[in-house]
Amino acid sequence: MKAAEIRQTFLKFFESKGHTIVASSPVVPGDDPTLLFTNAGMNQFKDVFLGFDKRAYTRATTSQKCIRAGGKHNDLDNVGYTARHHTFFEMLGNFSFGDYFKHDAIQYAWELLTTKFMLPAEKLWVTVYAEDDEAYDIWHKVVGVPAERIIRIGDNKGGRYASDNFWMMGDTGPCGPCTEIFYDHGPEIAGGPPGSPDEDGDRYIEIWNNVFMQFNRTEDGVMHKLPKPSVDTGMGLERLAAVLQHVHSNYEIDTFVALLAAAKAAVDGAGAGDCDKDSASLKVIADHIRACSFTIVDGVIPGNEGRGYVLRRIARRAIRHGYKLGARTPFFHKILPELVNQMGDAYPELRQGEARVTAVLKQEEERFFQTIERGMEILEAALATGTKVIDGETAFKLHDTFGFPVDLTADVCRERGVTVDQAGFDAAMARQREQARAAGKFKMAAGLAYTGSPTTFHGYDELLREASRVVQVYVDGSPVDVARAGDDAVIVLDHTPFYAESGGQVGDTGELRNASTRVVVEDTMKIQADVFGHHGRVLEGEVKVGDTFTARVNAEHRARTVRNHSATHLMHKALREVLGTHVQQKGSLVNAERTRFDFAHTSPMTEAQIKEVEAKVNAEILANAAAQAEVMALDDAQKSGAMMLFGEKYGDTVRVLSIGSSKELCGGTHVQRTGDIGLFKIVSESGVAAGIRRVEAVTGANALAYLQSLEHTVNEVAASLKAAPAELSSRIGSLQDQLRALEKEVASLKGKLASSQGDELVAQAVDVKGIKVLAATLQGADAATLRATMDQLKNKLKTAAIVLAAVDGGKVQIAAGVTADTISKLKAGELVNFVAQQVGGKGGGKPDMAMAGGTDAAALPAALAGVQAWVSERL
Ligand code: ALA
Repeated sequence: MKAAEIRQTFLKFFESKGHTIVASSPVVPGDDPTLLFTNAGMNQFKDVFLGFDKRAYTRATTSQKCIRAGGKHNDLDNVGYTARHHTFFEMLGNFSFGDYFKHDAIQYAWELLTTKFMLPAEKLWVTVYAEDDEAYDIWHKVVGVPAERIIRIGDNKGGRYASDNFWMMGDTGPCGPCTEIFYDHGPEIAGGPPGSPDEDGDRYIEIWNNVFMQFNRTEDGVMHKLPKPSVDTGMGLERLAAVLQHVHSNYEIDTFVALLAAAKAAVDGAGAGDCDKDSASLKVIADHIRACSFTIVDGVIPGNEGRGYVLRRIARRAIRHGYKLGARTPFFHKILPELVNQMGDAYPELRQGEARVTAVLKQEEERFFQTIERGMEILEAALATGTKVIDGETAFKLHDTFGFPVDLTADVCRERGVTVDQAGFDAAMARQREQARAAGKFKMAAGLAYTGSPTTFHGYDELLREASRVVQVYVDGSPVDVARAGDDAVIVLDHTPFYAESGGQVGDTGELRNASTRVVVEDTMKIQADVFGHHGRVLEGEVKVGDTFTARVNAEHRARTVRNHSATHLMHKALREVLGTHVQQKGSLVNAERTRFDFAHTSPMTEAQIKEVEAKVNAEILANAAAQAEVMALDDAQKSGAMMLFGEKYGDTVRVLSIGSSKELCGGTHVQRTGDIGLFKIVSESGVAAGIRRVEAVTGANALAYLQSLEHTVNEVAASLKAAPAELSSRIGSLQDQLRALEKEVASLKGKLASSQGDELVAQAVDVKGIKVLAATLQGADAATLRATMDQLKNKLKTAAIVLAAVDGGKVQIAAGVTADTISKLKAGELVNFVAQQVGGKGGGKPDMAMAGGTDAAALPAALAGVQAWVSERL
């Protein structure tokens, strides 16, 4: 089956099950800032899952263009080196929005794979999330997948819900447990089943993921239940095509055979002559042309930031691989006609955009071919030294001057077993960014040309100032005579109470008002060292140079901010006392919500240390000491023992802020007395980089709100467990003990049930030509009981063919067993299917033991009655 036919078969199958066929959304997500590229079929339905959006349908099916080359799901580095990683791929999916759930999703998947794509059941393995007994039971009891091919996978990736079987779109958004279907490519290929130590081999390949969407994860890591449980599935078209076309690698499917041939022709024509048709480089090129073309079609152009940069990295990686094969002139865009030929029918936008994609790629190639040769020389020279690590400076130079994205350098190095000093590269990059930022600020100052006198700041002790005079007005970055209602303007005043962002403290908000005009100030930032720009919108009237205004700072916003700022000083002091004087401030952000403080310290803080810091800060708050600011000579400040920040440039005179026991150089605004802070609470402690910790804390009303929400959660849990909050942990402990005891009891009861029923059944066996034949129903048995009973009966009957069945609602489970001495004559798989097909089911397994499911319980007695004759005919 060709890829195009597979795509159609999938969509038509789900259409026949009441699904609406929906077109792929663009690879650039329209309005989702959390996503770099569309990475799954469900992206376009995110809001439908969340309950924010409604569609005319509750079932949908798509073939979605996906890119996994950046963000949470990133396969770029693997492409070309494995049989099945791609930067671009097509995801076939079916979706239920609060319509069907696990039962139908699993059964549809099974039906499609085994009856439309005719995959042999015994080649399919499944995994389920360890806690998802429901999915396990559906696979096992309803579908009849034998237990040995169902694998439970728990939180195997280092955190709650961090699991191969728990799917998340990104750090936030809809998510839930999933069940994955694997195809066994056969024992001749190395690799173990999922969950085994050698699962990364190529033998067992995941082809389909069925996600049971149940939660929305928000930024704070909290999992909120979705309004309605839903289904989201994704099957890689390329992998499925490899299975159905009986090839091992995705690069051998029809689409890629054509693209590889086109890539080879293009590279050969650009100077390579006759390159190796099996080289990994051709695979990289054939893969990358798809990612590049589809992203350009959807509006991205190569650049230095965000999506444009990802596109550039992919394109340059492809070009470098062409260069490696011998291409010396642009070749990449020449593969496009074949891509359009292969995929233009399914995605008409590709055909429509062909000319533009060609032009964009050609230009990018021409640019990169200008520097690639020189860049490769530099890299080769560095490699020739025999080093095992390319230093960060070289990698940065390649990036900055020769247009080698660092992962491209890493890619070349990887081929030689060499790595890149990423930390060194990052440092060089950060330095350049800092310079650019400084230059940017300068530019902004230059853009907002200002030659007047500096602003006089009164905001240390005033929040309101009458008759502040406008000395300059800017709209759209240029000085103007007048800003009118509706304009976003930057206004410079001669005197102001507004604090301009600096020293980690955010700028003030508020309003400017006179008889005819009102301006809301959304932020205050410095245009030059002492020139304050009030950024805001003119709501009514107009603003002209010379006008005077009453300038009023938003007092609540300021009060919340200063509480956090003053608390930061006290915390800094306390951290040094508790952790040691190596604690140095590395960064801080103080706004109306919280304070975020980064400092040098190597290990995570313990709970006791956090408590101690909280206690110290709150003790200072209770002491209610007055804060004092003093302007003095830098020398004097140093002598006074005030804390200074290493590497910071201070003027000759500085402002020293004393509050409680802390004394620090600071230009920010603060509370009058420590008691104004109210309450101080640390809400998080984490690592941000090697040797740097981050503490976030809240104060005042924010601290109260934080504690109240914690209390609310505890009360809710307590109410649901009917325990007092103080008893919660012992209560949960005893519930866990109970659960374990019950689990043990259930297991032992199941065993007893099996053996008691087994004893009775022995007597019912009938001798058919020397073989004991038994076909019986076990009341209330599950699959495990069927198996256990089967083993016992085999032991007791010695030479036997046995069928055991159980009915649960309308569904039937069947186990067939044949003792080892009889499998040359009778096969359990055939026996189970003899019964299963009469009850509307199908199954499989090994010659001595097979399982099946069925849906027609009424037909079971007759089917079991026929077993004796079936056996007899075969002997
Ligand atoms: N959204 C799921 C995935 O991408 C189906 O694997």
